Amino acid sequence: MSNALTVAAKGKLAMDKWVVRSSIFLLFIAMSLAFRFSLNPNGKHFDSLLTCQNNNNNNISSSSYLKERIVDLANDPHTVDWMKKIRRQIHENPELAFEEFETSKLIRQQLDQMGIAYRWPVARTGVVATLGSGSSPFVALRADMDALPIQEMVEWEHKSKVDGKMHACGHDAHAAMLLGAARILKQLQDTLQGTVVLIFQPAEEQGQGGKDMIAEGVLDNVDAIFGLHTVHRYPTGVVASRPGEFLAGCGSFKAKIIGKGGHAAIPQDSIDPILAASTAVISLQNIVSREIDPLDSQVVSVAMIHGGTAFNVIPESATIEGTFRAFSKKSFNALRERIKEVIEGQAAVHRCTCEVNFTGTEHPIIPPTVNDARIYEHVRRVSIDIVGEGNVELAPIFMGSEDFAFYLDKVPGSFLFLGMRNEKIGSIYLPHSPYYTIDEDVFPIGASIYAVFAHSYLSNSTRNLNSYD
Ligand SMILES: *[C@@H]1O[C@H](CO)[C@@H](O)[C@H](O)[C@H]1NC(C)=O
Ligand SMILES: *[C@@H]1O[C@H](CO)[C@@H](O)[C@H](O)[C@H]1NC(C)=O
Ligand SMILES: *[C@@H]1O[C@H](CO)[C@@H](O)[C@H](O)[C@H]1NC(C)=O
Ligand SMILES: [Zn+2]
Ligand SMILES: [Zn+2]
Repeated sequence: MSNALTVAAKGKLAMDKWVVRSSIFLLFIAMSLAFRFSLNPNGKHFDSLLTCQNNNNNNISSSSYLKERIVDLANDPHTVDWMKKIRRQIHENPELAFEEFETSKLIRQQLDQMGIAYRWPVARTGVVATLGSGSSPFVALRADMDALPIQEMVEWEHKSKVDGKMHACGHDAHAAMLLGAARILKQLQDTLQGTVVLIFQPAEEQGQGGKDMIAEGVLDNVDAIFGLHTVHRYPTGVVASRPGEFLAGCGSFKAKIIGKGGHAAIPQDSIDPILAASTAVISLQNIVSREIDPLDSQVVSVAMIHGGTAFNVIPESATIEGTFRAFSKKSFNALRERIKEVIEGQAAVHRCTCEVNFTGTEHPIIPPTVNDARIYEHVRRVSIDIVGEGNVELAPIFMGSEDFAFYLDKVPGSFLFLGMRNEKIGSIYLPHSPYYTIDEDVFPIGASIYAVFAHSYLSNSTRNLNSYD
């Protein structure tokens, strides 16, 4: 039996959760991909699989058999319905960063029902489940759980029940797909040649959740990590990623320029912070245009200027705030250095002092998302097995950022864009749109990629270790 998933259009929309950037161009390509259904989803194949895995780790056809088995399990109508149900429940009850108590509870209930052990609370609401042998190697899969302060405008049966809050970035879908992978891997538990760590993290949107999870040790012993994000840039059935630099690092700065207040008609008795702030804003724009390689994409934007209370009073101080983005860590750190120097320099020129801050709990700096070439290649091969070679694309770099970058800073891993553009059901909106819509047909694809990645990574590592015997 085959389940042909016809993919309509391939749209390239600038995917950015935070800043809508760049042009949109559309290529229309018709594609199809087939998923094989197992004739006996929970039946006898399983025993023969166990036998062949245990007796022969190097059996290539057994590993491809295993991938088929995982895809079958992911497409089992019960599993698909179950993932949809969980996602819809999370969607109806969105919770903001670090407030994901009910979401976390729902995830734990499902893990309990499956008999999967977990650690909780991690970083307030996070859940970290483990499956498999309990010993090395360890491979991690990550999903996020937080919603956004957005009023949902989509009228549908499972619309958000909380005014002003909405899952408009697909984190409800990510959590449901990771639970899907948990269910699949639980059924194949005896064939896992190591340990799978399932990370359900809070507060991705704040750029803080991943960081806090790491601080609580979720990456201890972890050899590799994989994460994904649903995007409308690619149609359902297409996935995309790239080795090396993928998403920009995101930083924010806030500078207080301090002068000396006084009467605006007697400037000689004051030190004007407004003038210093103005020249600082202009000089900041010269960094990217004059100091940086035009082929190395970077952005500095001053997005706020605050200062003064009356038209005839020179204020004591003025504050500017903005964001900066770059792809390589080197460029990112160099840019941060120059922003500080330029603001301090301009303040000094105008006899002011200043204080430039780059961190804070509200807007922490997110590093660039840099995919490890080896893990990227592993994900690419897994993706080809699941969606077919023609549906696996090399993604261009993006100015958006992801707090998955914090994990990649610590352990090798790879992040993947999971296409879910589907005009027929209206899943065409950018992340953070009040019209954001998920194509739920993507769930078995996401769950399969999560599961096959983890399973095959462990088998591959074990095989490599054995080859040194
Ligand atoms: C590999 O596994 C397949 C599927 O279980 C089995 O049919 C085949 O005989 C195995 N090959 C070897 C060389 O063990
Ligand atoms: C910079 O950070 C320090 C320490 O957290 C804080 O006291 C100060 O008010 C901050 N200044 C600005 C301009 O944000
Ligand atoms: C899998 O194993 C092969 C060698 O057998 C190695 O070249 C490759 O890098 C491994 N992949 C991963 C993701 O470890
Ligand atoms: Zn988002
Ligand atoms: Zn997101």
